[in-house]
Amino acid sequence: MTDIARFIDEMPKAELHLHIEGTLEPEMMMALAKRNGVELAYGSVEEIRAAYEFSNLQDFLDLYYQGMSVLITEQDFYDLTAAYLAKCAEQNVTHVEIFFDPQGHTERGVAFETALDGITRALDAGEAEHGISHKLIMCFLRHLSEEKAFETLAQAMAYRNRIYGVGLDSSEVGHPPEKFERVFKAAAEAGFVLVAHAGEEGPADYVHGALDALSVVRIDHGNRALDDPGLVKRLADEQIALTMCPLSNLRLCVIDRISDHPALTLLDAGVRVTINSDDPSYFGGYVNENYHAVQQGLELGLDHIKTLARNSYLGSFMSEGEREAALAKFDAFAASAS
Ligand code: HPA
Ligand code: ZN
Repeated sequence: MTDIARFIDEMPKAELHLHIEGTLEPEMMMALAKRNGVELAYGSVEEIRAAYEFSNLQDFLDLYYQGMSVLITEQDFYDLTAAYLAKCAEQNVTHVEIFFDPQGHTERGVAFETALDGITRALDAGEAEHGISHKLIMCFLRHLSEEKAFETLAQAMAYRNRIYGVGLDSSEVGHPPEKFERVFKAAAEAGFVLVAHAGEEGPADYVHGALDALSVVRIDHGNRALDDPGLVKRLADEQIALTMCPLSNLRLCVIDRISDHPALTLLDAGVRVTINSDDPSYFGGYVNENYHAVQQGLELGLDHIKTLARNSYLGSFMSEGEREAALAKFDAFAASAS
């Protein structure tokens, strides 16, 4: 292993763009299907993996929603989240901000509380066991209606102490941010922090829309911002973090090869770029594999890697005290490693 690869693996880091349902590994999918008596379209782990060939976001989403059908009980959500946190501990991830998709569960008859309770119980256990701090962000599915999003927000109101923020995910094109302007306004008034997926497949205009109509403080993906120099300058000036996901972009054909990934150009323009895994089970890598991919594909040096890792804390929703402590630990690690 090269020195820089070892540095990536060992450095402390935060993950800011992770769908917990996208950490469902085929082995767990099979095991939960059996435990819950759910019929799967696949007979083996190999068949599941072989089906993960996507030509766009929708291809993936079709399998992602199908996969989550095995998640039924509170224990299922606990096991899913605990497995992800064990992986984080292995990869030296010290802080996570994870998404969950309540409508992916309530729409098929699993209660909001079942998902929430299992995930938060595992997050608390992960903090005690591995020292990994966390924030939980609830996403609205943008292919569903504004009315359904309002229903989901109403369900979340009782859990503002456990749900830190709201986000927006699922099929992007044709579902612009403005569709959810009123829901996001209500969420802000209720005290939730706001983020949204924008500019993954959708145009740079959707990034403007997320900032202007939804007032988000962080953009998930944001690749297409590169099409609009004025927007790149705005992201840099306002230090809006982008939670980028290189292996996801490759697997969903947002880019043809990692050497085309916009992370380096945006970093060099002064944008607060971060590296994340999105749906690691489906896209072939957790956060360290995503760092390795951009390090190699974009030929990043140690300074860029350090900036990306520091950005993961700078772009997080940690308190200022937690952030300073995390950055000091990172800097001490970097000093001792070089
Ligand atoms: N984009 C949009 N919706 C999603 C994603 C993504 O990358 N992952 C899970 N839901
Ligand atoms: Zn995502």
